[in-house]
Amino acid sequence: MKGVKVVGFGHYCPENIISNKDLENIVDTTDEWITKRTGIKERRISSGEGTVELAYKAAVAALKNSNCGSDDIDLIIVATTSPDKIMPSTACSIQGLLGCNKAVAFDISAACSGFVYSLIVASSLIKGTDKKRALVIGAEVLSRIVDWNDRGTCILFGDGAGAAVIELSNEEEGIVSTCFSSDGGLGEKSLVAGQLELNTPFAKEKISEKRYIEMKGAEVFKFAVSVLPDVVNDLLKKADERIENIKYIVPHQANLRIINEAARRLDIDKDKFYINVDKYGNTSAASIPIALSELFEKGLIKRGDKIIIAAFGGGLTWAGALIKF
Ligand code: COA
Repeated sequence: MKGVKVVGFGHYCPENIISNKDLENIVDTTDEWITKRTGIKERRISSGEGTVELAYKAAVAALKNSNCGSDDIDLIIVATTSPDKIMPSTACSIQGLLGCNKAVAFDISAACSGFVYSLIVASSLIKGTDKKRALVIGAEVLSRIVDWNDRGTCILFGDGAGAAVIELSNEEEGIVSTCFSSDGGLGEKSLVAGQLELNTPFAKEKISEKRYIEMKGAEVFKFAVSVLPDVVNDLLKKADERIENIKYIVPHQANLRIINEAARRLDIDKDKFYINVDKYGNTSAASIPIALSELFEKGLIKRGDKIIIAAFGGGLTWAGALIKF
């Protein structure tokens, strides 16, 4: 049986730490409000590094932790909503920097579900084509699309990158079950960013640029607390697995209240969720690979452990995977 296993992880976040207290000097907010409503205490914000640079540093760490060289990589997928450029793709820039000359490289846009989408696409290509080993990265400099005058959103987000190397395997471990879905109608109404200008000699009506994240927080909250348990249950069902056998659930790190509510709805202990939203805020596509990389760095995952990753975000999108190590 052909499976796909995860070989190693890496992550990199900017060194610049911005605390809730720092944000009190920028918008009308308090450390107490942010902590109570979100669980976030601080986030990393780029003071000059772009998405390619963060992604590159995470990728170098993942390759090192996987004992892989540039020539071992056949496929590079980057999930991002905040690329440095529209063209070339972030993945192509990374390919050039790493010298992965025999790889094919492209980006995936699925907001905070982007890393899990990319993992699923990479895993399918590994099973179905001649690509046998992939570098999958989630990388964001969200601070460039955050409205630093909007206290309802700017307190939530952070910058960072995480990466994984996955490869074809004949062993039993690996990506056991997956799910991914989207709802475009709901996405346009509740969470948008980065509207590009259309101002050509042919445009009947000018469309202006609307760069920043605009969000109906309460609606997104409602969506998130409903899909997070659904993703977990779907993955367990597909894998014929029980929640008791799952060591960690690694959710998209958006808001501690969302995670607590998901734990309540799933009727499980909160400790089963790996949480680092307090340190990084919501880093969108980077949040799950950063968390996975930390779990490994801390030695919290052993061979044979099963974990679930579960994401949700703009699009709207949601996705998950059950992985056995
Ligand atoms: N500091 C202080 N007050 C703030 C604030 C801030 N940073 N942001 C909003 N407020 C105020 C609002 O103006 C409002 O004041 P009012 O009652 O006088 O009108 C009040 O707090 C409540 O605002 P509301 O937006 O209803 O708060 P909330 O409990 O829904 O929390 C979020 C807001 C954004 C934290 C919450 O909706 C959320 O986490 N949603 C999900 C967002 C998310 O995770 N998005 C990414 C998904 S990938």
